[in-house]
Amino acid sequence: MGSGIAQAVAQAGYRVRVRDLTTGDLERGRKAIETTLEGAIQRGKLTREKAVEVLSRIHFTTSLDEALAGTRLVIEAVFEEEKVKRPLFEEVVAKVPSDVVVVTNTSSLAVGRLFEGLAAPERFAGLHFFYPAAINRLVEVVGAPGTSAATLEALTRFSYQLRKIPIQVRDSAGFCVNRFFVPFLNEATRLYEEGLADIPTIDRTANELLGTKLGPFALMNATGIPIAFHSLASLERAFGPAYRASTALQRQFEARQPWNLQETRASSGGPSRSEEVRDRFLGLILGISTRLVEEGVATPEETDRGAVVGLRWSRGPFALLNERGLSRALELVESYASRWSGHFPVSEDLRARARRGDPQWPLSQVRIRREGPLAWVELDRPEVLNALNSRLLRELEQKVQQAGEDPEVRVVILRGSSNVFAAGADISEMAGKSTGEGRDFTFLGQRVAWAIQRSFKPVLAMVEGYALGGGLELALAADFILAAEGTVLGLPEVTLGIHPGFGGTQRLVRLVGPARTKLLVTSGTRIRAEEAAQWGLVARVYPPEELLSRTREIALQIAGAAPLAVRWSREIIDLGGDVDLPTALRLEGESASHTFGTQDQKEGMRAFLERRPPKFQGL
Ligand code: CAA
Repeated sequence: MGSGIAQAVAQAGYRVRVRDLTTGDLERGRKAIETTLEGAIQRGKLTREKAVEVLSRIHFTTSLDEALAGTRLVIEAVFEEEKVKRPLFEEVVAKVPSDVVVVTNTSSLAVGRLFEGLAAPERFAGLHFFYPAAINRLVEVVGAPGTSAATLEALTRFSYQLRKIPIQVRDSAGFCVNRFFVPFLNEATRLYEEGLADIPTIDRTANELLGTKLGPFALMNATGIPIAFHSLASLERAFGPAYRASTALQRQFEARQPWNLQETRASSGGPSRSEEVRDRFLGLILGISTRLVEEGVATPEETDRGAVVGLRWSRGPFALLNERGLSRALELVESYASRWSGHFPVSEDLRARARRGDPQWPLSQVRIRREGPLAWVELDRPEVLNALNSRLLRELEQKVQQAGEDPEVRVVILRGSSNVFAAGADISEMAGKSTGEGRDFTFLGQRVAWAIQRSFKPVLAMVEGYALGGGLELALAADFILAAEGTVLGLPEVTLGIHPGFGGTQRLVRLVGPARTKLLVTSGTRIRAEEAAQWGLVARVYPPEELLSRTREIALQIAGAAPLAVRWSREIIDLGGDVDLPTALRLEGESASHTFGTQDQKEGMRAFLERRPPKFQGL
C-alpha cells in the first residue's frame, strides 16, 4: 500500500521520501512501483519518459530523520496494528513541527485512538486509500475528534491533486465503504453455506445487480481472503454478530485456499435461488447504508460515490434503493434484519420516509453551504468533472433561486465541489438526444443561466481546473468570474458537432467582442485564465491556493455594501449593454436617483459622517 501511495503522490508532481526499515523492504517497494509504472506504459497510459520522471521524484531511505526533514505531510502506511502504528506516531510527532499534517492510512483502525493524547490534534487525520492505491481513485478522508476543518479541507484538496475522488467520512469502524462492502462479501459466503445457490450463481447475481465484472467470490480470490476475514473481525467488534465471518469463510481462510469458482453445486444440493440471493444482498446493502448515513458516517451522495468510484459498481446503494422505491426497500431491509433478532438495527430514517410515503431518497448533485451572508452553491459530480446533466441543471436552477430569495444571503458564489468548475454539459447524456430533446436540454441550460444572471443577489463564479462548454456558459451568466491560475476555459462544442446553446455565443461576444468570441467558438481553442483575464472574460486571477480566500474576501466586501444599490447597479450594467448610450445613461440616472429614497442611503452617509461602519438593511 505504501508504495502505491508514494507512486500516486509522485505522479501528481510532488517529491516523496519513502522510509522503510531495511534496504530489502525498500527494494521491494521500488520494484512494486516499477511494475505498476511498466503496466501503465504497456497500456499506453504513460510514456517511458514520464515514468522515469515519476521514479526520480521518489527518494528511498531507511532513516526516519532524513525522511521527515522539511516535509509538510507525513503519510504512515505500516502494518495494520495499533501497537505498531502508535509508537511510530510518537516518534514522528517528536521530530516534526506542530503544523505538519500527520496522517494514518488505515482501513480498519479507529483514527482517533491512534493519535490520542498527542500534541496539536488538529493536524491528525486518516486517509483510506483503496487497493490498488496507485490506480483506484477513491480515498476516504477521515476526521478524528480533534481534526480541524482546515486539515480536512487541505487533505481533500490534496487528494484531488492526486487525481483521486475523496469522500469525507466519520471515524467509525469500516468508515463508509468497507462497512457495507465487506459484509456483502461475507453474505455471499453465507448464501453459499446455507445452500441458496452455487458460487457461479452468486457471483453472477451480484454482477447483474451491481453492474460489476467480478463477483464477490472472484474478488476475494483476487484481493485475498485474509483481508475480508480480518476486516470482518474489526466490524464484528464494533457492530456485533451480524458482521461475524461465516463458517465457510473462516474455513476457507484457515485452509489458505482460494474459492473454487467452478463449484456448480449448491451445498443444499437443490437448484440455485437467485432471486432470494439478490434480495438478501439488497437487504444487507440497503440496511447498512441507511444506518451509516443515519449515524453521520457519510452522506448518501458520498456513500454512492464510494461504491461507484471505489468498487466500480454501476450505481451506489442509494441509487439501488431509489430504483426499488422506499417501501420495497424497507421490506427488504426488515426481512434481512428479522434474521438477526435485534443485532441488525433498521434505520429509523428509512422507516419514517417509507411511512410518510416518500417515493425516493433525495440525492443531490448541487450542494448549498451557508457561511454568514454568503451562500456557496457547489456543483457536485467530481467523478465526471462536474459535467452538467439535466438533473444537475434543474437542481442548480432551484438552488440558485432559493439562495437568491433567502433574506439572510447577500452574495451567492457558484463553484465546483472539487478542484474543477465544470467540464461542460454531460456528453454521455447528450449523445443520444434527438432534435427535440436537444432543444429541451438547451433551453433548460438557458433557463439556468438566466436564473444566475437575474438572481436578486450578486452571483460570483469561482472557477478552477476547467470551465468548458456549458460550464463556462453558466460562469458567463454570473456577475463576474474569479479564476485560479492555469484554469482552462473554452467552448469546445464544435469539436462535438454542436455549438454553444446555454448563451455562450451571446454573453461572450458582449464581454470580449466578435473576433475573440469567434476564435473560441469556431475553433474550440481553450485558453488559460491568465489570457482570459487580459481579454476581460475573467475579472481576476489568483494562485490556486489563494483563490478561495480571495473570493471570500471579495464576496464579503459586496455583502457589506448596500444591497439595493448593489442589485440595481448590476441590473443597470447588464441592461445598459443592450441599449444605446443615451437610453443607458437615462436608466442609470433614474436608478441612481431612486437610491436616494432608500433607508440604506441615509444610513450609509450618516455612518460615514459619524465615522462608524454602516448597518445596511436592504431597505
Ligand atoms: N461529459 C461527461 N463526462 C465527462 C465530461 C463531460 N463533459 N468531461 C469529463 N467527463 C468524464 C470523463 O469521461 C471521465 O470519466 P471516466 O473516469 O468514467 O472515464 C472523467 O470525467 C474524468 O475525465 P478525463 O479522464 O477525461 O479527465 P482529464 O483530466 O484527462 O481531461 C478534460 C479533462 C480535458 C476536461 C476532458 O475530460 C474533456 O475534454 N472533457 C470534455 C470537455 C467538453 O468537450 N465539454 C463540452 C461539452 S459540450 C457542452 O457543454 C454543450 C452545451 O453547452 C450544451
